[in-house]
Amino acid sequence: MATASRTAETAPATRNARVFPPGFLWGTATAAYQIEGAATEGGRTPSIWDTFSHTPGRTRNGDTGDVACDHYHRWREDLAIMADLGVGAYRFSVSWPRVQPGGSGPASREGLDFYSRLVDGLLEKGIQPVVTLYHWDLPQELEDAGGWPERATAERFAEYASLVAGALGDRVERWTTLNEPWCSAFLGYGSGVHAPGRTDHADVLRAAHHLNLAHGLGTQALRAALPGRAQIGVSINPAAVRALTDDPDDLDARRRIDALANRIFDGPMLRGVYDEDLIQDTSRLTDWSFVKDGDLADIHQPLDALGINYYTPTLVSASADRKLPRRDGHGGGEQSPWPAAEDIAFHQTPGETTDMGWTIDPTGLHDLLMRYHRETGGIPLYITENGMACDDKPSPDGTVHDPDRIAYLHSHLGTVQRAIADGADVRGYFLWSLLDNFEWAYGYSKRFGTVYVDFESLARIPKSSARWYAEVARTGELPA
Ligand code: NOJ
Repeated sequence: MATASRTAETAPATRNARVFPPGFLWGTATAAYQIEGAATEGGRTPSIWDTFSHTPGRTRNGDTGDVACDHYHRWREDLAIMADLGVGAYRFSVSWPRVQPGGSGPASREGLDFYSRLVDGLLEKGIQPVVTLYHWDLPQELEDAGGWPERATAERFAEYASLVAGALGDRVERWTTLNEPWCSAFLGYGSGVHAPGRTDHADVLRAAHHLNLAHGLGTQALRAALPGRAQIGVSINPAAVRALTDDPDDLDARRRIDALANRIFDGPMLRGVYDEDLIQDTSRLTDWSFVKDGDLADIHQPLDALGINYYTPTLVSASADRKLPRRDGHGGGEQSPWPAAEDIAFHQTPGETTDMGWTIDPTGLHDLLMRYHRETGGIPLYITENGMACDDKPSPDGTVHDPDRIAYLHSHLGTVQRAIADGADVRGYFLWSLLDNFEWAYGYSKRFGTVYVDFESLARIPKSSARWYAEVARTGELPA
């Protein structure tokens, strides 16, 4: 894939600030556990999210993904909605325990057929499928064998990647290995607010490394199965970290969180290293001996795309006044997700907030796009998630109006245009999310969809933001 940056002469966005470059990919996104339901159908075995959500006290109202949006049975209706909205691409994830029950051994034909039909349906409607292999639903058997802190999990992931590539690779070009490995490691094994709900800071670092290794081995497996055809990337959720003041201690807190939030993943994936300061900062927890010879080379694979998921910036200071980290707002938790960072305080950035309590500030997205444009040496960038939770409710006439979401999308898309005008090679944008869905520890209490879902009747109602986004995608222009 060509990686040339756009120049002032060639970038349409610089001639007309409201227009996106030709060929810009307009997409929408979901994840298997958040929408599919059918948790025990078709030979699917439990994932860590089934176990976690069925454990009392883990999710709001005890909500589970047993039914979710029932997309497993209603995918044709969801496809028709997407086609009606005219999106060019659909980013969805494959449920590992649906296509490989138990996470090792033979594939489930029934499981693979579900995704195969979905891919065919998308292609018939002219919508590009973008497959995410891992969006947090680790087969429970693999967690029982130690989960992400164990190296074997990365090896199993590479086998799973080959198996999915073999089934879908004749029709799917765009692949994402992992979604937000930070959440898997730090929320799953640190604060424990995500499955599997463990709280051990040394395990966070082991999990992060083995997620990195899974990305590297999975990328190699995809390339081997699909030589020359696959466009492979990963979706990270980098933190746009800011220091509360210019005080050297606050700046150092920013450096440390940047290491733990960002460089722990992009270091090995994009540069083939774990930075020395990260190793030093965490040395009282681990000697990092789980990093074996050859691992960094295995992780550092050429990539065709880097996916950035962005919602809100992160504000830190060095402080004895220890506030609970609000990082990514996923459920709080009594224990911090951050290893070796007990002395760092996290603050709410000023400004209006979404229904998640996340501050609306698109400048963080600009910072991240420019940073990764510089640091990747021009790997095409995609925003693989961006969007907002609103407390949407149908009006008496049955329509759903979400002007706040439209304003959020407008301001963030404006930022994307500015980053393109400033030279970042941004190729596409995937709105989170197509449907209201199971928002992890928050259950169904938070609505990110541009399509409203009535979780009693499972009826879908496109919100006004869906129409607004369809028009942006159709014209490639941001209205004034
Ligand atoms: C990140 C995750 O990838 C997605 O699953 C989640 O629903 C959104 N952010 C919103 O929290």
